[in-house]
Amino acid sequence: MTVQPQTIYLKDYLAPAYWIKTVDLIITLREEDALVMATLQLEQNVKVPQTGRLTLQGENQQLLEIEIDGRVLSAAEYVLTDSDLTLPLTAKSATVRIQSTHRPKENKTLSGLYYSNGNYCTQCEAEGFRRITYFLDRPDVLSVFTTTLIAEQAQYPYLLANGNCVDQGENDDGTHWVKWQDPFPKPAYLFAMVAGDLAKLTDTYTTRSGKVVALEFYVEHHNQNQVEHAIQSLKRSMAFDEKVYGLEYDLELYMVVAVEDFNMGAMENKGLNIFNTKYVLADQNTATDTDYQNIESVIGHEYFHNWSGNRVTLRDWFQLSLKEGFTVYREQQFAAACGSPTCNRIDEVNLIRTRQFAEDAGPMAHAVRPESYIEINNFYTMTVYQKGAEVIRMLHTLLGDEAYYAGTSLYFKRHDGQAVTTDDFVQAMSDASGKDLKQFLNWYRQAGTPSVTLSGEYYGKGQRFILTASQSCPPTPQQPNKAPFVIPIKIQLLDNQGTALLPANTVIVLTEGTQQFEFNNITQAPTPSLFGQFSAPVKWDYPYTQSEQHILLRHDTCPVNRWDIGQTMMSNAILAGLAQPETAALPGDMLEILKALIQDQKEDPALLSRLLTLPGFGFLGEKLSCIEPQVLLATILRIEQQIADVLYEPLLQRYEHSLPKGVYQYNQKDMGLRAMANVCLYYLVRAQQGQGLNLAVAQYQAADNMTLRMGSLRAVNDFDAALRNNLLSDFYSRYQDYALVVDKWLSLHATARHVNCFKQVQTLTHHPAFHWTNPNKVYSLLGAFGQNPMAFHQADGSGYAFLAQAVCDLDRKNPQVASRMIDPLTQAKKYAAPYRQHMTDALHQLSKEKLSANVYEKVSKSLEELQHA
Ligand code: TRP
Ligand code: ZN
Repeated sequence: MTVQPQTIYLKDYLAPAYWIKTVDLIITLREEDALVMATLQLEQNVKVPQTGRLTLQGENQQLLEIEIDGRVLSAAEYVLTDSDLTLPLTAKSATVRIQSTHRPKENKTLSGLYYSNGNYCTQCEAEGFRRITYFLDRPDVLSVFTTTLIAEQAQYPYLLANGNCVDQGENDDGTHWVKWQDPFPKPAYLFAMVAGDLAKLTDTYTTRSGKVVALEFYVEHHNQNQVEHAIQSLKRSMAFDEKVYGLEYDLELYMVVAVEDFNMGAMENKGLNIFNTKYVLADQNTATDTDYQNIESVIGHEYFHNWSGNRVTLRDWFQLSLKEGFTVYREQQFAAACGSPTCNRIDEVNLIRTRQFAEDAGPMAHAVRPESYIEINNFYTMTVYQKGAEVIRMLHTLLGDEAYYAGTSLYFKRHDGQAVTTDDFVQAMSDASGKDLKQFLNWYRQAGTPSVTLSGEYYGKGQRFILTASQSCPPTPQQPNKAPFVIPIKIQLLDNQGTALLPANTVIVLTEGTQQFEFNNITQAPTPSLFGQFSAPVKWDYPYTQSEQHILLRHDTCPVNRWDIGQTMMSNAILAGLAQPETAALPGDMLEILKALIQDQKEDPALLSRLLTLPGFGFLGEKLSCIEPQVLLATILRIEQQIADVLYEPLLQRYEHSLPKGVYQYNQKDMGLRAMANVCLYYLVRAQQGQGLNLAVAQYQAADNMTLRMGSLRAVNDFDAALRNNLLSDFYSRYQDYALVVDKWLSLHATARHVNCFKQVQTLTHHPAFHWTNPNKVYSLLGAFGQNPMAFHQADGSGYAFLAQAVCDLDRKNPQVASRMIDPLTQAKKYAAPYRQHMTDALHQLSKEKLSANVYEKVSKSLEELQHA
């Protein structure tokens, strides 16, 4: 029998018995293995009781020798298990030397030191450093690292590690060595090294105070023409953090290495970021506008971590959102400054409402600062990242610019070089602003999406408008009852012409269960625009009349809310249509408004492209207590068809105006036009009367960029006919040498809403372009499949069984990836009985296997929830 993985609790936090002041690593990369010699300077932590022993974490390696203060230990003196090493230790300070070896080329977990496409690289967050050497692998142990790398010179001309290069040389045997030193003490999860034969692209950035920073990007040789956008994005990030947060870069060198095999997006290792190629490489032929934006965001995100995460780090992993939520918010501010604030915000809101809300309503629901976990890698979630960012955004809204930035400055100054908690962050915000933020902490402690119900009453006589708001939050695992949240509501009151009656940026704050807000000198019954810019991550409801909805859709002074009311109106039509999908329809007056918007050339094409897109399956599923997936999908498709048929002419005209003139340029204007052209085309190919398919082929053939090419493929992708299949084959033959475009080709197959999709996905798992060991390939095919209602929710449950089997196979190689792939099955409880039963069966089947802690945690928590359903 295997031991059940243990639950770790925040309340059990204990500071370490020793600090590790310095780490001196000498890593020799040999053909078959890596030899690691680690010299650790330990110093007792006088604040905690001593036991005479010290336990270091370590796994997946061969221990060769341990020395304490120059004396080699005999095997009887220490205790070694699969996961740790316990040493006898009583001295105030000691030098411990440990030699071990491991086999990076056999490491398919992509955690620790591994081999990808001929190069070595590392990934140590969250707990990967223990796969390199025995260590106190926890974020509150900060050490100064010196790293010497030794490898064959011809095969591995570049040997990189954190900090500054301090020495290097050649040996007679064809190897060379490079020594690096990072002056900033850091936790082991920020350690990184790379060895490889790569193309190096350089630039420089001069900081505000005049320091010249060398920027170095390392990519595989054949990708060297696709790095410019990432380099420019980095320079913009550096300028942004100086200008907005007053934060400068602190080393003389900033390196970014792009690797093809990577579990996540990128990693903020000090001075040596390692990136998934997906978030570095771009040119107009291979990357869409969205890819360009994502690169800018992720480059910014990792750069901003240099302060929010690295200079000020985490006390323990429960504090993960302290760096991630904050950094996502900083990244969002940066993206808004570089691009369209409205469209960025819409895309963020969409993500949180579809994915984070679902997570918060499921068996893995957890607070932004969780209280327990089984596997920390399962907590790199929408909640910790996206909801965590919303929490910082709310603080900003509540405090205002001045106090918010005073708070962040105080936080960075007060805690520079420390490992701290979310409470420390909120304390700094409170101290700087003079505001009591105790109740605000509920956002960190309580899981679940709050609901806010609002209603309004106008008193013409007193020219008063009274808004009543009530909040509640559903129970989540371990948290049956919730205390009220502090909910900032950005509000505007509009008259019938859409004129604003309140000062811009008015914010009311709901802190109690139920509360009333009074507005005076309101001369006519107003339409309230609520939660402007999505000012709080809640579900809310206000009983708008139809004419109020129209005022908001046309005139709301908050463009995000114009989009939002459109989504509400479309959702209502879809939900109303569920009883009879064949006759589901948008109301005629809504179609009239959409038509007018399409015909209005002044209407921003980027915003319009979002306004015309129906709410997704995930967003709608959140509004239902029991999902009939095929019925829901059929209803969505029916309404798409209706829009296409009724608005064909205006869409066709707008389409013709929307194809940008001239060669491809990455700028706001052209991006908006391309987004609009693609949405128009999507509907045009669906219309019964039209020439849509021909237009799609023409757009595909004529395109000088990937955005329009992909737009055309997405438009035709649901039609499993020769035309679509020919385009997809053409696409593959054009781009088969571009790994990132092959990913798009795979996900096109997996997102298609036609009856053969499931079969095609199964077949593609045997295609030579698909690799089980490459996360991008798995996410593109199986990740997209799990999000595709038509293909995944087979009536006989075969879609679930297929995914469960894939998870099981993946789990033996890469538990982190396997665990991401299982997410759709964790939503079982929300589905109608036969589907739920098949999903439960698939989970049961999995539970009989020998699972990683990662997959075990999700399977067991899902089954537990289903038992109580
Ligand atoms: N800290 C990284 C980020 O948010 C996340 C990350 C990268 C990660 N690689 C990982 C987390 C591997 C867990 C495992 O930018
Ligand atoms: Zn991050």
